[in-house]
Amino acid sequence: NNLPTTASHFRHVDAMVPQPSAAAAKLSQLKAVVLGEAPASEDDEVVVPSHEFSRQALVPSTQKYLEMYKSSIEDPAKFWSSIASSEFYWKQRWGDQVYSENLDARKGNIKIEWFKSGITNVCYNCLDRNIDAGLGDKIAIYWESNEPGFDATLTYSELLHRVCQLANYLKSIGVGKGDAVVVYLPMLMELPITMLACARIGAVHSVVFAGFSAESLAQRIVDCKPKVVITCNAVKRGPKTIHLKDIVDAALIESANNRISVDVCLTYENQSAQNRESTKWEKGRDVWWEDVVPKFPTSCDVEWVDAEDPLFLLYTSGSTGKPKGVLHTTGGYMVYAATTFKYAFDYKDSDVYWCTADCGWITGHSYVTYGPMLNGATVVVFEGAPNYPDPGRCWDIVDKYKVTIFYTAPTLYVTRYSRRSLRVLGSVGEPINPTSCRWFFNVVGGSSCPISDTWWQTETGGFMITPLPGAWPQKPGSATFPFFGVQPVIVDEKGVELDGECNGYLCVKSSWPGAFRTLYGDHERYETTYFKPFPGYYFTGDGCRRDKDGYHWLTGRVDDVINVSGHRIGTAEVESALVFHPHCAEAAVVGVEHEVKGQSIYAFVTPVEGISYSDELRKSLILTVRKQIGAFAAPDKIHWAPGLPKTRSGKIMRRILRKIASRQLDELGDTSTLADPGVVDQLIELADD
Ligand code: WT7
Repeated sequence: NNLPTTASHFRHVDAMVPQPSAAAAKLSQLKAVVLGEAPASEDDEVVVPSHEFSRQALVPSTQKYLEMYKSSIEDPAKFWSSIASSEFYWKQRWGDQVYSENLDARKGNIKIEWFKSGITNVCYNCLDRNIDAGLGDKIAIYWESNEPGFDATLTYSELLHRVCQLANYLKSIGVGKGDAVVVYLPMLMELPITMLACARIGAVHSVVFAGFSAESLAQRIVDCKPKVVITCNAVKRGPKTIHLKDIVDAALIESANNRISVDVCLTYENQSAQNRESTKWEKGRDVWWEDVVPKFPTSCDVEWVDAEDPLFLLYTSGSTGKPKGVLHTTGGYMVYAATTFKYAFDYKDSDVYWCTADCGWITGHSYVTYGPMLNGATVVVFEGAPNYPDPGRCWDIVDKYKVTIFYTAPTLYVTRYSRRSLRVLGSVGEPINPTSCRWFFNVVGGSSCPISDTWWQTETGGFMITPLPGAWPQKPGSATFPFFGVQPVIVDEKGVELDGECNGYLCVKSSWPGAFRTLYGDHERYETTYFKPFPGYYFTGDGCRRDKDGYHWLTGRVDDVINVSGHRIGTAEVESALVFHPHCAEAAVVGVEHEVKGQSIYAFVTPVEGISYSDELRKSLILTVRKQIGAFAAPDKIHWAPGLPKTRSGKIMRRILRKIASRQLDELGDTSTLADPGVVDQLIELADD
């Protein structure tokens, strides 16, 4: 029987959730928050949603959340199938089983399926379905360029036309169902257009963040072997011009060296950054988007696909080895992205929504393109940098488009602008510390917007632990409670579920529709990384604390993955980039807490014999990382290391390196098990060199 019975977790939440009356009693604490004062313990700081907000909210009370959550856990099949059938179009309904799953490797292969045999199409549900419902003339995209004053809009009907033209072009060059398409585009309208066009014809897009280097792009091309790569000649980001096509050219040479050749490189001419005359061109392979795509018809038949057919691949960093191709499928992802968007942001038809994430990351997939468009929302797509031409840019954009829902990383600037239009604020990617949360609430939201601190991952497809604004008394810095259908558990190192107030490893028991189904081409790694550490559970890689009221507080990664300004980076990847440098013998990378970026990258480097420490070497090491991975992965600090602290078996003791990196020198712990305890003193001596 796949159906979970009432989860013990649920009973736990039920008992511990502050009921509305209890929450109201904490109003005096709300005052403290508004005044920017912190109570003695962060666990006691509660922000109650205003009556006005709650009254109009989709989930207007804790009670209502509990009812809905309970039904989602007691009967997931019923809960999700009723949403799937009432809010989406299916060419054919799924089979008898709404879902089937095995999350226990001891019982066979890990398998997750939702709505299997249901036939649908995500692009159809984003566009045609909404247009049929009367949204054809509604703005789908407000596009804001890097340069203030340059912008464009697309209605839902216009968006459909553009998508169909590209879909038809892709079909004409032989791209069809199941074929991979690599997309290396900045935040132009053409990026969501490309994603939707792929979805329309059943092709599998793999968007690579346009900050990745040629080497990283090549690695992804070699892994998923696309027929076509879609890019643009160049983009301006802030004051800088980045020549993306040159990067793609280099990546295609590198791919060819690995015997993967790509037939077509479709290139959008982004005139604001570079004209076509100065773009390097390979005849026969390279095609200007503007020369071909607009010639195709503005309608295109939909490729109807199975709910379990793949929708997209997105590479993400793990603690070891090469990036993992996280695979999401069609039906479950669609239902989950749309439903989480709707509830976590309390979405209303009149909202104008802006998510600052790039479509190169999962946030841009689920909460720039799919989640909002499945809801028929108006979305702001911003090409530029949040601080260009000045730090007030974000708030200019909020004011210009009267943004009501603003979703961003919790690291932005205080400015002079009015944010009167804002209704809901969302935050993602890293733990927000209570101080910045208070700031976000008081200054950005004018003390009237609920904040959704959403916890989730590339792998989860959508929000997992998130406040529902209106339903929850919030605690600044806590992601609060699970979304419908999600059963988070906190386990100890033996995998035993902990109850009540506790601190441990965050896992999830039983599947949810948006869960990833495999790592592309490597199901074994999927099982080993995510399901074997704690048998029977999906292991998130995060630590988590549950407080006396049942609220969840994420405590950060427990593996070797770091999070820099919302960009997920594996320490192992940075290390292999560093040792690629001919003068680097060995490297160990750790993350250290950073006020603005959440974490920053700190690298210990041992040069090869005969090479001495120098500023030039430091610079060229950093350049190597930029070249191998991308600028966003460049270490902030290179710490010279004559040797690294290793156990007698040769394992680097990162625990000690983390303490040295954060200068917690009196917390180094036991160093006697090291092969050479002397290296620690050497490292401390070199700390500020
Ligand atoms: C990792 C996933 C999810 C979209 C952005 C990143 C960290 C994510 C939160 C949050 C604390 C968070 C976790 C997670 N993380 N959201 N609200 N509070 N930490 O997706 O690149 O797959 O990274 O980001 O460590 O495991 P991702």
